[in-house]
Amino acid sequence: MSRVRHFLKDTDVSASEQFDILKVARAIKRNRGQFSETLLGMSIGLFFEKPSLRTRVSSHTACSSLGATPISLRADELHFHRGETPQDGIRVLAGYLELLLARVYSHKLLVELAKPSVVPIVNGLCDLYHPLQALADLLTIYEAFNGRLKGLRLTYLGDSNNVSNSLALAGTMAGLQVTLCCPKELSPEDYILKEIANVSLTKDSFFRVEHDPKKAVANADIVYTDVWTSMGEEEEESSRKILLKDYQVNSELLSSAKRDTVVMHCLPAHFNEEITRDVFDSPNSRIIEQAHNRFPTTAAIFLFSLWRERFMEFT
Ligand code: CP
Ligand code: NVA
Repeated sequence: MSRVRHFLKDTDVSASEQFDILKVARAIKRNRGQFSETLLGMSIGLFFEKPSLRTRVSSHTACSSLGATPISLRADELHFHRGETPQDGIRVLAGYLELLLARVYSHKLLVELAKPSVVPIVNGLCDLYHPLQALADLLTIYEAFNGRLKGLRLTYLGDSNNVSNSLALAGTMAGLQVTLCCPKELSPEDYILKEIANVSLTKDSFFRVEHDPKKAVANADIVYTDVWTSMGEEEEESSRKILLKDYQVNSELLSSAKRDTVVMHCLPAHFNEEITRDVFDSPNSRIIEQAHNRFPTTAAIFLFSLWRERFMEFT
């Protein structure tokens, strides 16, 4: 059996592995120097078909903090659009790289890259999932609630998308009670509801879809939002603004929530669409810490993928 472990979606790790990855991320935050030679001599490809600030820079920083060399790859510099198949491309890249992180338009491309199983493929965001983001989100929640995850109530408001899919999967795996609040027209597709149901059936967690924002935020420990129009959906921007206008995270909506509700956003933010500036900058916001947590969680996934025998020493 192949020992290569891909991280294409949240459920590619078990709940206990997810917890171990978070533990290692905390160890990296506490003492990054301890890990500085763990991936010495290795090369990690960072392939981007879409723009990125956080994923690009945190993954570069993760490589250099672990002793690995990051190699930036842009879609227009490779040959995939000229007919070289992703499976052949990755078989060649495996002669140069130990791991490939890829941000792509279509999840299908990640599946193609993963098929030969020659190096671990890590999803840096696709149309369906953003599992690296969800790990940073869980670490942020863990820190905000003094080491607790189980039983916390998280409400995600807005478009159901790659970020909410991963948050629902990773969150229910970690024992959160997740409410997705979106307009009926933007509800999650059946396949993702089934995937989440499969996870939440086996855990003490819970997932529901709600369409009323005030009901959804009442009692929420965490209120989370993301852009209304994701990369690649720009043609739908004006219709989405109409559908989502009542789903903005603003102080009026939060007056229906608990006073100490933690506010989160994966970034980049579009002010006065999904969130207002005052809420973003409020004492309840953990948004900047959340973005910072992309570094240790990405580094922990690189270690999990490439250094598994010794990984457990740090858990
Ligand atoms: N949250 C996130 O993935 O940000 P970037 O698009 O800047 O990488
Ligand atoms: N849902 C957003 C997330 C950006 C990090 C997008 O896909 O554009």
